[in-house]
Amino acid sequence: MKILYVTSEAVPFCKTGGLADVAGSLPPSLAKQGAEVAVILPLYQMVKEKFGDQLTFECFDYVDLGWRHIYCGLFSLERDGVTWYFLDNERYYSRGELYGHSDDGERFGFFSRAVVKMLDHLKFWPDVVNCNDWQSALVPVYLKDDGVRDERYRSIKTVLTIHNIEYQGRYNPYVLGDLFGLDAGWVKDGTLLMDGDLNLLKGAILCADAVNTVSPTYASELKMPYFAHRMESIMQQCSEKLSGVLNGIDMRLYDPRTDSRIAENYSAEDMTGKAVNKITLQKRVGLREEPDTPILALVSRLVSHKGLDLICEVLHDMMDLPIQLVILGKGDQKYEDFFRWAAQQYPGRMSVQLDYNEDLSMAIYAGADLYLMPSKSEPCGLSQMIAMRYGTVPIVRETGGLKDTVQPHESWRGVGTGFTFANYSSGDMLYVIREAVYLYKDYPDVFERLRERAMKCDFSWARSAREYLRIYATITGMEWPPSHENSSRATEQPEAVEEAEAPVTAPAEEAAAAISVKEPAVEETASPFEETSAEVSAEEPVEEAPAAEAPVKETPVAEAPVEESPAAETSAEETPVTEAPSETEKEAKAAKKTAKKTTKTATKTTKKTTKKGTSKKGTAGK
Ligand code: GLC
Repeated sequence: MKILYVTSEAVPFCKTGGLADVAGSLPPSLAKQGAEVAVILPLYQMVKEKFGDQLTFECFDYVDLGWRHIYCGLFSLERDGVTWYFLDNERYYSRGELYGHSDDGERFGFFSRAVVKMLDHLKFWPDVVNCNDWQSALVPVYLKDDGVRDERYRSIKTVLTIHNIEYQGRYNPYVLGDLFGLDAGWVKDGTLLMDGDLNLLKGAILCADAVNTVSPTYASELKMPYFAHRMESIMQQCSEKLSGVLNGIDMRLYDPRTDSRIAENYSAEDMTGKAVNKITLQKRVGLREEPDTPILALVSRLVSHKGLDLICEVLHDMMDLPIQLVILGKGDQKYEDFFRWAAQQYPGRMSVQLDYNEDLSMAIYAGADLYLMPSKSEPCGLSQMIAMRYGTVPIVRETGGLKDTVQPHESWRGVGTGFTFANYSSGDMLYVIREAVYLYKDYPDVFERLRERAMKCDFSWARSAREYLRIYATITGMEWPPSHENSSRATEQPEAVEEAEAPVTAPAEEAAAAISVKEPAVEETASPFEETSAEVSAEEPVEEAPAAEAPVKETPVAEAPVEESPAAETSAEETPVTEAPSETEKEAKAAKKTAKKTTKTATKTTKKTTKKGTSKKGTAGK
């Protein structure tokens, strides 16, 4: 199967957000599973500067867009089994920033048009074009436009991946012909029209053969006005072709056992290095060197949908707890001002770094104990997965990918990988922060087991890539994996066959199927994301497993991790339950005590919160 992945950014070439991480990891993972994959993106100035000497000039052509006849160069580079193509036009892309220019519409209109035009010059004619977000949203529209005149375009199937529906590419309909070279019919029939605006994302949602978002929960949330930024009716209309595929993370890049960016390596089996990272972090950001005080961390763009208002409301209540708080990120002025001011109130206990700093973020993931992500909405979120991988237990609001990646801790039966709360309420957030802090302080052994479960989750791209290939197979009608490979692989890797036989529903369940379990059964059955470290490094066999052929539509959306998955049951049989009962007992006891404590203090806090929340409102809002 030949896949062309169209993106406006990709690691390691250029990055402004999570899309770049996905575009940098998913294509190589698809290639590892046997697909032929090329990625195409603009040749920004920063790519030329960093990778210029590795690029091969392929050819150039001209793109006709409206009244313009525009030069387009094509460069390429081979890396990780993928051909990376770069489209060159200095006027559009030789600039410091990727986005935020007044002619972004024209720049990405050109990009999408040029992708279609340059298909003739690529190493293959794709079966599937997977575009991403509004910047490449016109690709499915242009393909339909061209397909009317030229039969060969009709063979290409398209997928749109929505990473964040907030950004839709909205313009005045007046520019349709001039900027995008499209006929007025596209607006007249409503395909590109939304609330009186030209809306590129809407066009792609309607024209693409399949639409997916980056988590199952976000896919279902997009049918609700609260999350959909006015697109709910379109998403409902397209629900038959809509699915959610959870992103992964690069499990090799983010591996505390081997990561050279952190102070000392460690693993779930030997956590001594984590303590070294903690002290190093405390020194680095000016926190008191207290090994037993839990560090609560937040690494985020400081913008409203990250749920920062909740933190502003109850910051002082949070700081009444025996914690240290470290915040890294920059963004809206009001949050920067508030956090800068707050840090001054708690010297040695609260540190705020208003910066975007990859190196410091790694020090935080490795050195902190708890990771806070109270997002109002979160299509997937990557940092909670990175935090978990480094044994920093997440505290998240149950939305989008946060809900799909963090299983709530239940002391009484020893399951879960983090702490969660459902309502967008500062009181509820504070309640679970308190629960987490006291579990850390009073029941270190229970906390350690929770931490270990978080570290062993399977967030590998192999799982997501299989889901994408399933979507591609459904829309093209192609068999995947091809049957001859299927049979040869089956003889080579019996464990892979077992995986394929497991019923495929939610990604979480699939992840459970991919895992052979070596942990106590009681905990395992409840943690479908878990895997052993051995399996992480041996990613290959798992990736090559024949994927079951469930059609896209049948992938249930927003399913909670499934506890009774067949894989988990098998594991339970395989693993003798020796220490489980006593652990459970212990944890139940701990739960009872913590619950008591939290309930006692919750009433107190809610009172305090309301009082302080009101009085602080003015400060936070400024
Ligand atoms: C966007 C979303 C984020 C997601 C990322 C990658 O940045 O806001 O939740 O993880 O895209 O898909």
